[in-house]
Amino acid sequence: MNVLVTGGVGYIGSHTVVELLNNNNNIIIIDNLINSSIEVLDNIKKINNNKKIKFYNFDLRNKDLLKKVFKENKIDIVIHFAGLKAVGESVSEPIRYYNNNIMSTLSLCEVMSEYKTKKLIFSSSATVYGEPKTLPIKEDFDLKTTNPYGSTKLIIENILKDLYISDNEWGIVCLRYFNPVGSHESGLIGEDPKGIPNNLMPYLVRVAAGELECLNIFGDDYDTPDGTGVRDYIHVVDLALGHLAAMNKIKNQTGVLVYNLGTGRGVSVLELVKTFEKTNNLKINYKIIGRRPGDIAACFADPSKAREELGWVAKKDIQDMCKDSWNFICNKNKK
Ligand code: NAD
Ligand code: UFG
Repeated sequence: MNVLVTGGVGYIGSHTVVELLNNNNNIIIIDNLINSSIEVLDNIKKINNNKKIKFYNFDLRNKDLLKKVFKENKIDIVIHFAGLKAVGESVSEPIRYYNNNIMSTLSLCEVMSEYKTKKLIFSSSATVYGEPKTLPIKEDFDLKTTNPYGSTKLIIENILKDLYISDNEWGIVCLRYFNPVGSHESGLIGEDPKGIPNNLMPYLVRVAAGELECLNIFGDDYDTPDGTGVRDYIHVVDLALGHLAAMNKIKNQTGVLVYNLGTGRGVSVLELVKTFEKTNNLKINYKIIGRRPGDIAACFADPSKAREELGWVAKKDIQDMCKDSWNFICNKNKK
């Protein structure tokens, strides 16, 4: 299939492109590199024996350039990763977040409609569940967001539902990711945020590498087994494979389908730190500080809908995630 991957140079996009190439798809990427770098493209090619990738560097909100891509390529399906994703930044810069995430999706859908490409897979997030009343989280739980980033995801899901109501030829899958971590086993691509990381695993690996002094654990007084926050960490390669399963499902079908992509297992911050230390045989300097505003105690998926309808399950465990995240940083720091 000819697959257009928006944000394909980013963390999850790059891993998905690797798996799409492994499965003999033709890849076209659009990315404006606002949160990624062009070297990732070379590293994807290294992993995939130099298979061809068409790359366009521009902002998706530029509809004229987008039309040109659809004119130049026959696109069967779009996987839409492009977006801004930092929760804290979205609170201080809401307009930028709403503008980037929503306008780029509108621009994409308009051009897709015009060129009659009506298959779309969208990167949503577990953040759309807000603070769940019970666990594990199922797809039919109430949706409620607590920050502008999360609101962009929920608004986009609603836009996509309305789009399908207006035109039943669309086939759309919204994938609600839990907490992606880890990297490709080659160590060539991985999560490499610009500046000081906000998320746990990228912060942890920088402490391990001596680039940051100490990991701050945000609270140990939650109602969880050890008091620290519990999340559903999922290996990014498993997540990437979830997109291939979704593609397979939607290619001959219409409608709007929604799936959780998680492991179903909750892991606490302390458990992750301990597993990281044991797996990689090193010590992490950490201290407990106060809760981070806006954090919830626990969040993990019921992934059974994806298992039953997509035939997809996450296979990698927390040790694999710790090993591969560390391997990527070691590899990067060798260069
Ligand atoms: P990322 O920042 O690594 O990748 C996103 C890519 O999109 C980047 O390469 C960026 O340069 C590009 N981009 C952003 N805005 C663009 C625009 N207007 N035009 C063209 N390119 C643009 O992020 P990621 O972790 O790979 O996340 C991918 C998607 O998954 C995002 O939509 C994100 O919100 C969603 N998601 C991520 C997580 C997570 O924890 N990583 C969790 C849930 C959902
Ligand atoms: N944490 C720390 N110290 C840190 C960073 C995080 O203790 O330096 C803790 C948090 O308090 C939380 C857990 O580690 O308990 C995970 O925090 P992350 O920031 O890694 O992830 P979140 O669950 O807060 O949010 C992430 C993404 C969101 C997304 C959500 C669900 O940042 O965009 O997962 O997919 F919506």
